[in-house]
Amino acid sequence: MGTGYVGLTTGACFASLGHNVICADIDEQKVESLRRGEIPILEDGLDRLVHESITAERLSFVLGAATAAEQAEFVYLCVPTPQGEDGSADLSYIEAAAAEIGPVLQPDAVVINKSTVPVGSTRVVERALGRSDVHVVSNPEFLREGSAVSDFLKPDRVVIGADSQAAAIRVAGLYVGIPAPIMVTDPASAETIKYAANAFLATKLSFVNAVAAICEAVGADVNDVMLGIGYDKRIGQEFLQPGPGWGGSCFPKDTRALARIAEDAGYDFFFLKGVLDVNEEQFDRVADKIARLAGGSLEGKTVAVWGLTFKARTDDLRESPSLEIIGRLRERGARVIGYDPAVEVAPAGVELAGDAYAACDGADVLAVLTEWDEFKWLDFDKVHEAMASPCILDGRNLLDRSALKRRGFTYDGIGRS
Ligand code: UDX
Repeated sequence: MGTGYVGLTTGACFASLGHNVICADIDEQKVESLRRGEIPILEDGLDRLVHESITAERLSFVLGAATAAEQAEFVYLCVPTPQGEDGSADLSYIEAAAAEIGPVLQPDAVVINKSTVPVGSTRVVERALGRSDVHVVSNPEFLREGSAVSDFLKPDRVVIGADSQAAAIRVAGLYVGIPAPIMVTDPASAETIKYAANAFLATKLSFVNAVAAICEAVGADVNDVMLGIGYDKRIGQEFLQPGPGWGGSCFPKDTRALARIAEDAGYDFFFLKGVLDVNEEQFDRVADKIARLAGGSLEGKTVAVWGLTFKARTDDLRESPSLEIIGRLRERGARVIGYDPAVEVAPAGVELAGDAYAACDGADVLAVLTEWDEFKWLDFDKVHEAMASPCILDGRNLLDRSALKRRGFTYDGIGRS
């Protein structure tokens, strides 16, 4: 149920493992275009997998949940759980899907929560299904956008949360052929694992960005500092890249939701609130850096922004740090010209340029806010020529700063200058 990036990736990957998969969605146009093999998202390897599975007749698309659920042994719920008004997750899509499939499910079917849901949602689904002869299991996803297919097929672990050992074993059977440890636990623990994993990773990044701020003050280089701490196996080299703040469809929503879960449980998770505050501060800090490069004020200045998506190799703009920062630049009076290799429709407040050079035309500052690899290999003499003043804020420490300084650019990075 649900053909967003989680549902579509899950469906196509299970089909590639040899299972028969029917993907359902409530959006008629989406279903029709998926039937034609058109993939609505940029996701490495997904196109090929969907085409191959459609051709092998192991993957099909239908409108409405009930049609897909009638014959199913397993039903994966992969529908959105957006943030509700009070910061908690809105379960209305999950409940609606469960209520729709409840009456048509085969006895002994297993309904699986793949969407990120608050602890206790397994019970909510059980209630909405209105059936006591089917099992509800939690099997959270840990997919990164851009590498969702390889994350699914080569995960670090598979987590299954179930009250019924038999149902857990049946779900584990779906993953035969996947080289990863499978962990079976209770539903509440599985649901908590998902939130704790995302909040821990967000904490790591806020920590890195806070250390970057200190590096700037003491004249250290955050890249070297992170390399140095990452050699400690207990810390590890991954997920230590400083940036303009973290974003995307999961981290902000899940970190806020865990803070909210803690509050409801009577625990003041004050440092998780700090993790969120550091991230907001990071957006402000980057906007300040851009203003400084522009000479102090942004009033009447033009800022070129390379990178609008929340990270490279995705076309997703949800909770993108780049858009957060652009909002702040505009509040301070700047005109923003953006370019992103994966974005064709201009987000509000941004004029979209046809290519990276055109974005720099007459710009007072160039801000690189997403780490698209291709930005590294552009002709910076051409960029220099196009800009009104050659100043670069490298929000991902992506570019060759010595080469840029040699070419006459004023350069500022994150945690290094
Ligand atoms: C994340 C989790 O990684 C995944 O396990 C979960 O299921 C969904 O949420 P995703 O949202 O695709 O995946 O993005 P991820 O690659 O984790 O990056 C999140 C944010 O952190 C991005 O804004 C990214 O630019 C930023 N980031 C990541 C950094 O700033 N530095 C890093 O070293 C890594």
